[in-house]
Amino acid sequence: MNTIGDWLDERLGWKTIWQTVFVRKVPKVNWWYTLGSATLFVGMVQGITGILLSLYYVPSPDQAYDSVQYITTQLPAGWFIRGLHHWGASALLVLAVIHMLRVIMFGAYKFPREMTWFTGIGLLLIAVGFGFTGYLLPWDQKAYWATTVGTRIAGVVPWLGESILRIARGGPELSALTLVRFFGVHVWFLPVAGVAFIGLHIYLVIKLGISAPPKRKE
Ligand code: HEM
Repeated sequence: MNTIGDWLDERLGWKTIWQTVFVRKVPKVNWWYTLGSATLFVGMVQGITGILLSLYYVPSPDQAYDSVQYITTQLPAGWFIRGLHHWGASALLVLAVIHMLRVIMFGAYKFPREMTWFTGIGLLLIAVGFGFTGYLLPWDQKAYWATTVGTRIAGVVPWLGESILRIARGGPELSALTLVRFFGVHVWFLPVAGVAFIGLHIYLVIKLGISAPPKRKE
């Protein structure tokens, strides 16, 4: 096993990457510092359960509702995978916000970590985007009317409102186009943006090192 590891290391240099990511030195910290990793873990669970759900979900007004019912009541462990994805969405937002509060309380957003903070804001917006687009996908009454109201709120933005509403809905009313659009954003645009922002965020955390808890006199 060791020989294979060494053989691969000579060609890929994976040991250096492993050391940099997992064996790096960190200051003495406390449980508040685990919130970022907890958010990351839930984000990964969302990715895996989302991919599994996409194998059975059909993004068309005729079949979306039925496909979700099928996943929940017929598919082996479908209820579990959907439940994880459903509650994971709320858990992700709650954890991300508490993680952000920790960063504020400990002053960890200050120099040189401003860009870590900005990429964090990007991640928070992406998480909200996931929630908003995902809510429509079951295509039931709650989903339909929540999105009607949500897009109408976007419609009252001065000057640009009407255009934002039409782009979000794919027309003046909610239709098949809205569902397909929300699905596309939920499974393509946001995951790609999310992976890019998480990559940047973690790169910065590793490059700058974690901040030590502030001392009373600082
Ligand atoms: C939503 C997904 C997010 C993930 C997966 C994530 C992940 C992480 C991880 C793993 C760390 C390492 C240290 C720790 O756990 O505290 C970290 C640190 C950090 N995060 Fe996040 N984060 C997210 C959102 C945010 C948000 C919303 C903000 C603020 C707007 C933010 C700002 C920061 C900053 C400034 C640090 C450096 C903290 C330090 O050095 O003490 N992050 N993040």
